[in-house]
Amino acid sequence: MNWYKIRRAKPQDKAALHRIERACFALPWSADELIKDATENILAVYYVAEAAGSPGAVSARSGDTPGSTSPGAVSARPGDTPGSTSPGAVSARPDPLLVGYAGLWVVLDEGHITNVAVDPDYRRQGIAAMLLLKLLEAAREKGAKRFTLEVKRSNAAAIALYERFGFRAAGSRKGYYEEDGEDAVIMWTDT
Ligand SMILES: CC(C)(COP(=O)(O)OP(=O)(O)OC[C@H]1O[C@@H](n2cnc3c(N)ncnc32)[C@H](O)[C@@H]1OP(=O)(O)O)[C@@H](O)C(=O)NCCC(=O)NCCS
Repeated sequence: MNWYKIRRAKPQDKAALHRIERACFALPWSADELIKDATENILAVYYVAEAAGSPGAVSARSGDTPGSTSPGAVSARPGDTPGSTSPGAVSARPDPLLVGYAGLWVVLDEGHITNVAVDPDYRRQGIAAMLLLKLLEAAREKGAKRFTLEVKRSNAAAIALYERFGFRAAGSRKGYYEEDGEDAVIMWTDT
């Protein structure tokens, strides 16, 4: 079983965030845009998933994904030592491996999800679900009561992920995506 830490993004994550962004999107944000939004925009909240091996943040077990049970079902076990067999033996890694990130903006009582991206080599391990869980929790603490996002109509993986978190389609934006003119589905949840 793999372990990941879900923690807030920080300026040092710039290159790793951009690597993931480029691997996931046809028209990636620039590294500067992304790190600025992630760490300087006071309306924004960004979390990253870091492969276990360095100390700090919340540790979560990838096998414990939310959705089928209740939000909060991810086990955050700060006492556990991710990536290590002997409890307490934290191995510091100088260059932690980021495998995913997710971000949103909170404007008044609405949270607008801007990005959810997981390195293709690390998908289907519950990483996006762990990121979303932390993101929505942090956004609620900032006052968000409902959440929205746009997603490509053909992006079945993302739509299935969002539906697990209670998002439902509530409209569309025609030709929203610059790279191929595909429509966006607008999704909302107030849970
Ligand atoms: C969408 C994305 C973020 C999912 O990341 P992930 O870490 O693989 O997702 P998780 O493992 O947390 O999956 C959680 C749930 O989402 C759904 N899901 C995720 N990937 C899926 C897929 N390929 N097919 C169907 N359902 C999928 C499932 O319900 C899954 O639960 P399950 O594994 O128990 O069935 C990832 O595929 C990605 O980065 N895609 C490219 C970027 C992107 O499209 N982002 C969304 C922009 S709106």
